[in-house]
Amino acid sequence: MSSNLRPESMARITTKELADAFIAEQVAEVRKQVGDKKVLLALSGGVDSSVVAALLIKAIGKQLVCVHVNHGLMRKDESENVIKLFQDGLDANLIYVDATDRFLDLLAGVADPEKKRKIIGAEFINVFADEARKLDDIDYLAQGTIYPDILESIKQAEGKKAVKSHHNVGGLPEDLKFELVEPIKLLFKDEVRVVGEALGLPHAMVYRQPFPGPGLGVRCLGAITRDRLHALREADAILREEFDKNGLAGKVWQYFVVIPDIKSVGVKDESRYEGWPAIIRAVNTTDAMTATIEEIPYALLHHITYRITHEVEGINRVLMDLTPKPIGTIEWE
Ligand code: XMP
Repeated sequence: MSSNLRPESMARITTKELADAFIAEQVAEVRKQVGDKKVLLALSGGVDSSVVAALLIKAIGKQLVCVHVNHGLMRKDESENVIKLFQDGLDANLIYVDATDRFLDLLAGVADPEKKRKIIGAEFINVFADEARKLDDIDYLAQGTIYPDILESIKQAEGKKAVKSHHNVGGLPEDLKFELVEPIKLLFKDEVRVVGEALGLPHAMVYRQPFPGPGLGVRCLGAITRDRLHALREADAILREEFDKNGLAGKVWQYFVVIPDIKSVGVKDESRYEGWPAIIRAVNTTDAMTATIEEIPYALLHHITYRITHEVEGINRVLMDLTPKPIGTIEWE
């Protein structure tokens, strides 16, 4: 499949049989394209890059070199899980880069959301390019481009404005010229998930909620500090654990915690206790263009509030965001 447009005759991949046929076709296609050459992939652990990784491991095994960049803005245990799944589980050729300090040092004192997004996107490319330069015999770059990305770039080429600058691994520096391998570029998201399951990736991974490229960076509002980022990561982990335990994980499209850069007065152990508020956001949507607020049982909200305020250092209130999209976007920044 070399065209960038989906042929009308292409059936939607809705079953394991159709997914298996797609996988067989792409395995053959990738082998034909790359021969015995090496392919580089930025493996974030998101659904798209994970499905591409699993597909390419099946096609070319250790000729695929995965680079996982931890930008320090991942959720709790996220990088560890990528290593467990791909290095330990699938025997992937995986390079792990902990670039936390590089990112957080650059972001120190930067409060403007678009500036933050641009810094994170650009530094991601810098770190990835640094790793690519250390490897001297790579000819190809694999990307988890999917069909909506193609449609979006067509829209942007027609002059329509994006609301936020999303980040991806496009735009590598001039000295790094790779031919692209984009095995899922004609698939819609629901098809990517069916293919992911057919490749044997865990259900929870394939159906995980979307997570923005800039990660917790756009949920730790304003200028990011390490202590507030730590509190956010812990509070978010509690929210996700409770939603999972209470059967909400499959029902709510996206749920997460945001921490603004403000403190309020509270009381703890009979003393004044200043802390940040943790804001819970739980939304449903079909296409992320609009979103509605999911109703969460009050008893569960009380329990989550208790846990976050008692277990996470620095948080003394929990608030709920009831704003639909529009007027709010799903992320706060
Ligand atoms: P907004 O905040 O624009 O988000 O309503 C819509 C959806 O996109 C996700 N999002 C991103 N995804 N890179 C991504 O891959 C990004 O930079 C990015 N920013 C927002 C957001 O989580 C929501 O699902």
